[in-house]
Amino acid sequence: MAQIPATSSIESVSTEKRVFAPPKAFSKTAQVKSLAEYRKLYKESITAPEKFWAKQAKQELVWSRPWKKVLEWKEPVAKWFVGGQLNVSENCLDRHLGTARANKAALIWEGEPAAEDRPGERRVLTYKQLHHEVCRFGNVLKQAGATKGDRVLIYLPMVPEAAIAMLACARIGAVHSVVFGGFSAQSVADRIFDSQAKLVITADGGFRRGAVVPLKQNVDAALELKNAQGELLTKSIEKVVVLRRAGNEINFQAGRDLWWHEEIAKASANCPAVPMDSEAPLFILYTSGSTGKPKGILHTTGGYLLYAKLTARYVFDLREEDVYWCTADIGWVTGHSYVVYGPLANGATSLMYEGAPNFPEADRFWSIVERYGVTTLYTAPTAIRAFMKWGVEWPKKHDLSSLRLLGSVGEPINPEAWIWYYETIGGKRCPIVDTWWQTETGGIMISPLPGAIPTKPGSASLPFFGIVPEVVDDAGRPVPRNSGGKLVVRKPWPGMLRGLWGDPKRYQQVYWTEVAGSYFTGDGCRQDKDGYFWIVGRIDDVLNVAGHRIGTAEVESALVSHQKVAEAAVVGRPDDLKGQALVAFVTLKSGVKVDPGLQDELRQHVAKEIGPVAKPDDIRFAEALPKTRSGKIMRRLLKQIASGAEIKGDTTTLEDLNVLAKLAAPDE
Ligand code: WT7
Repeated sequence: MAQIPATSSIESVSTEKRVFAPPKAFSKTAQVKSLAEYRKLYKESITAPEKFWAKQAKQELVWSRPWKKVLEWKEPVAKWFVGGQLNVSENCLDRHLGTARANKAALIWEGEPAAEDRPGERRVLTYKQLHHEVCRFGNVLKQAGATKGDRVLIYLPMVPEAAIAMLACARIGAVHSVVFGGFSAQSVADRIFDSQAKLVITADGGFRRGAVVPLKQNVDAALELKNAQGELLTKSIEKVVVLRRAGNEINFQAGRDLWWHEEIAKASANCPAVPMDSEAPLFILYTSGSTGKPKGILHTTGGYLLYAKLTARYVFDLREEDVYWCTADIGWVTGHSYVVYGPLANGATSLMYEGAPNFPEADRFWSIVERYGVTTLYTAPTAIRAFMKWGVEWPKKHDLSSLRLLGSVGEPINPEAWIWYYETIGGKRCPIVDTWWQTETGGIMISPLPGAIPTKPGSASLPFFGIVPEVVDDAGRPVPRNSGGKLVVRKPWPGMLRGLWGDPKRYQQVYWTEVAGSYFTGDGCRQDKDGYFWIVGRIDDVLNVAGHRIGTAEVESALVSHQKVAEAAVVGRPDDLKGQALVAFVTLKSGVKVDPGLQDELRQHVAKEIGPVAKPDDIRFAEALPKTRSGKIMRRLLKQIASGAEIKGDTTTLEDLNVLAKLAAPDE
């Protein structure tokens, strides 16, 4: 069972007292103009939720067939807008074509500079152009054998084709599963196996800090991988569509592999959007849990799109003339909901950037903000802390006056970073929206509405319309204000996950058994006297490293799959930049000696098994792992050791952790 932390590490009484009123100039034109107006709308949304959501669904989306029932709720299975039909790509594209938005930029893309002295490539796709490309690629998918309900794995860099591929899947009713480019061949193979995908869409390579990420090579390797019984994991794959991006040399298997540019040149631009049931799967996105392999989070059509659209519009106060930039990769849910679906459903201009924030130099973001006149910037605390470290001279080199709203997502933002963001980037004129949500929730759940809700640095503030979060104790009872507890959500909402792909039992078990009758988030939280939510972070065995979610169990099993490793325990320790860092405690098989290269060997092994994102920051070798009398690893003790003084000097000696274990409390 998850443990409730005693206190939050991110807030302190002094910062909690700092309240920032919404800037007057912002409130004047905001969608919601005051706290009172927010409270009134919120109350409506939770007292008559079905009425509220029915009204929104009618207003916001184009339906091919109206729904019969707004919500069918049989815990833990929710069905929204039952009997209704619609198409997500039609709602993101076609519906704007007959309007003044037809020639408006849908996507503005900037590639990573190919070299220090060369600017990045730039492309703009209007709604009309994006529609044209999506239709053509929809036909390519059909030609390659994909049809309604088939799964398509997308493993692409941050290029417009990633959005095109997602929307093309939605158009023909195929289910996409995007895999972040920082995951390994093994991870790609596991996801293909779990989803039984028919196609892979990839690129020769993507650029990252001047290097080429060999995506196609990873796919080739994935397609060779076998399970323990010697069977191919990827038997379901029929075709691989390859985008030429980095120009690196690749293997090309005739018959199986298809070039994107060759296929699309042959494809017609007439591709009718297939009306889909409101509850038809839209995408699967894999994310780490506290046990076992990543879970395939399933999102469906009507409820997800409505929730992504509405939250994007209200939380980012989207306006027609905005240049909205969410810096997330489409490999994460933030990229799904707030680079692609939310903004496009609103007819907004969404900026996509391929590279790192400090390549070729540390002012990359600020140069983009200045050149495109970005109005809305949505990024992660880990990036903000890096900017702080790199120094104010970088943002100071650029005119950031176009910015009017700043957002943060992925992990708790420490008040220092919040204030820096507010002052140095936002010039004290931009409200900050600290948005709490998860892959599972589909969209933002707790966040200030800019212009309406006063902000407190470090708190995600108040729930979005229709969301009923609560902080509870182990028995599921609400805790008094200012006490820590588990964050749960009491009522279903349209953007919620519909299950785990192919595993209804695990869905029930992970989310619906910890606190009876409620969705369990896995986060610890506290509500202050004003009802503001202060998220503490995960209370299960999931770590948040630089905004990326990593399951300790997954890293442990990657480590023990190495021939020299006997046992491994992975814990988090606080890290100034990344929020949390991964520390692995490892015992070696008998006879294996620690040598100076072993740490790196194990890190590379984890990169191969899971991906570079999961590489442990520290690896410490121990004689034995400290265990309780019943044989459970004493994780709390390991966390303490991990957060203690950094180990310096000789890392090749074995630590004797059992000495420490004997000093620890017996109930650990
Ligand atoms: C976990 C979800 C949702 C998009 C990115 C991450 C943590 C997320 C915040 C925030 C404090 C946050 C939580 C959550 N988290 N946003 N604003 N304040 N914590 O999605 O990979 O599914 O991770 O990220 O711990 O459970 P994810």
